[in-house]
Amino acid sequence: MITIKPKHLCLLAMSTAQFFLAAAQKRTIEQKVDSVIKLMTLEEKVGQLNQYSGDWNHTGPITEDGEKQTQIRKGQLGSMLNVVGVEHTRDIQRMAMQSRLKIPMLFGQDVIHGFKTTFPIPLAQAASWDIPAIEQAERIAATEASASGIHWAFAPMVDLARDPRWGRVMEGAGEDPYLGSKIAAARVRGFQGKGLGNTDAVMACVKHFAAYGAAIGGRDYNAVDMSYRTLWEYYLPPFKAAVDAGAASLMNSFNDINGIPATGNNYILRTILKGKWNFKGVVVSDWGSVGEMIKHGFAADEKDAAMKAAIAGCDIDMESRCYKNNLVQLVKEGKVKMSVVDEAVKRVLTKKFELGLFDDPYRFCNEQREQSQKNNPAHRKAARELSEKSIVLLKNENNLLPLSKQTKTIAVIGPFVKSVRDNLGFWSMEWPDDSSTIVTQWEGIKNKVSIDTKLLYAKGCNINDTDSSGFAEAVEVARQADVVIMSVGEARDMSGEAKSRSSIRLPGIQEALIKAIHATGKPVIVMINAGRPLVFNWVADNIPSILYTWWLGTEAGNAIGDVLFGDYNPSGKITMSFPRTEGQIPVYYNHQNTGRPAANETDMNYVSSYIDLYNSPKFPFGYGLSYTAFTYGDIVLDNKTMNTKGKIEAKISITNTGNYDGEETVQLYIRDMVSSVVRPVKELKGFQKIFLKKGETKTVSFIISEDDLKFYNNDLQYISESGDFKLFIGTNSENVKEVSFRLLK
Ligand code: BGC
Repeated sequence: MITIKPKHLCLLAMSTAQFFLAAAQKRTIEQKVDSVIKLMTLEEKVGQLNQYSGDWNHTGPITEDGEKQTQIRKGQLGSMLNVVGVEHTRDIQRMAMQSRLKIPMLFGQDVIHGFKTTFPIPLAQAASWDIPAIEQAERIAATEASASGIHWAFAPMVDLARDPRWGRVMEGAGEDPYLGSKIAAARVRGFQGKGLGNTDAVMACVKHFAAYGAAIGGRDYNAVDMSYRTLWEYYLPPFKAAVDAGAASLMNSFNDINGIPATGNNYILRTILKGKWNFKGVVVSDWGSVGEMIKHGFAADEKDAAMKAAIAGCDIDMESRCYKNNLVQLVKEGKVKMSVVDEAVKRVLTKKFELGLFDDPYRFCNEQREQSQKNNPAHRKAARELSEKSIVLLKNENNLLPLSKQTKTIAVIGPFVKSVRDNLGFWSMEWPDDSSTIVTQWEGIKNKVSIDTKLLYAKGCNINDTDSSGFAEAVEVARQADVVIMSVGEARDMSGEAKSRSSIRLPGIQEALIKAIHATGKPVIVMINAGRPLVFNWVADNIPSILYTWWLGTEAGNAIGDVLFGDYNPSGKITMSFPRTEGQIPVYYNHQNTGRPAANETDMNYVSSYIDLYNSPKFPFGYGLSYTAFTYGDIVLDNKTMNTKGKIEAKISITNTGNYDGEETVQLYIRDMVSSVVRPVKELKGFQKIFLKKGETKTVSFIISEDDLKFYNNDLQYISESGDFKLFIGTNSENVKEVSFRLLK
């Protein structure tokens, strides 16, 4: 017999009460939404599904477009983007309050890597593998954005990406669905905080649904061609994780999937998202993507596009005006059911209620709060810490790094050394007062060295032209120094949206500058600032120390100083494979085996290989060094077999055998040896970050359950199959220990 103790009764009573309270509140919102919808004309309903950009140009004013203002006052516009700041959002909200039903306006914005405090670009953040730190970065971004009148962040971008030519790899977490899912969920939690309704929480918008990262040839906005199995296995999991984390909205992608543009794709939006995943939030098109279905050749005209998008389940039309100009007519003609419009409006209004905007449309409009978020020291500290964790040490011959703060003369050379805004990278907000708050790399280095250290500077060249007139000065400066630090890379607008590159080399003549400095014989450290993996073979083969510093944001200089001089021991690990050359793209670690796999790098005898290049990337997924060394023991399994209800524990001991305390990301991979569909040679299934003091040993344990062995079979069922598996644990996707186990059924 089960006995219920009074303590349990009390808990039961509480949770029941809370349950009913929550249900009542939920019902109330539903009821309120329904009652508003009952009052709305069809025109007003369509208005809620219409979104425009403001004409905000970072210094104001909000929108001078008289037509837009009239539409706001008529209730023909439900949400806006690119209207930022308390003053501006309040002005627009006042206009919305002049409309017949006073339905509040929703303000969305691309909050991609921070807001006032710029954090490292998302691809750099991913290299930290630090899920709580990434969540915290979004928490801070949400706090700052919401204080400036924003209700809705158009982030996170969770598109899996295997092609570094695609400029938008900078916005995502890289090539792996497992890590990408963890990060996607963390970002959603970060944005939405304790839940919509708190004034420091903003709606997350998971994008771009779906498969945008697979644009053919890495050319932005290009078509996508993939099997549904690949879609489910690799590209959808981060979206699912974000939806499960409670994401309030999703954004369509520009591409087609199986020939159907995502914006008009029933299978993606209705069958998967709103059906199988039971997503209750809002779906917004990408900028103009409803109208773009005409150019795709999928819709005959704007009316056809509006019809197809609405029926497929795209709730809001961002900027194409196809809904605004056609949806009323389409409903009147019976081509789009009123219930389709009502459902979309319901989703939008529900979010407005949840945000509390019906109670107080100005609740995100507080000047004092906005002011308090400017240059916030706690936020800067978090940005500095995440920047340190994002930096990847790619090479460090003879322990050239870290540098001594007492070094007599250091030459700091390159176009990034004193650059200000390039540190921010693409998708950063350009506040008029921002540049004064960005710590340049020069300042970061200057702040570290002793007063006796002489710092010399030469720019050497620009980022992207052929003017070598600065070389002589740079070489002269290098000759006077004990050690040279060089900072090179991509300008802030060379990766990002519409920034695909066919050649992903160091732009301009930067490599020539590095060669000239290297020829002086001085020890050289190269820092590469970029939004994507670049190809830099000569540098990788000839320069003793290389740090990948991405675009780190507001605190770039300080974080770089911390790493160069050993106040932080680098721990970042790349989450995209770095190709040897563009001809190798796409190169990713979790590829399938072929019937003719190469036995080794030089095997070219009628096997799957190039006759002029190794198959392996220059730097593999999960790779990154430390100033110290970690030695892995052997993997010990508590059992060699498991059934579907069982578990296997894998243990491994790791020792810090180097000279510094340091942090290591221990990675677990699994391979299914034989299955009903061809499986990847390795898949990440777990990781743990451990901090080891010099000389210390720790044992790391991973638990493997059936879930880690599941995959999508040919019928798209998510299943496991009995048989042999390999389990790998190591410091990156290539350098691993391995054992075998068996799943019994
Ligand atoms: C991008 C989206 C972005 C939107 C609004 C589009 O071009 O693809 O990621 O959220 O613009 O700025």
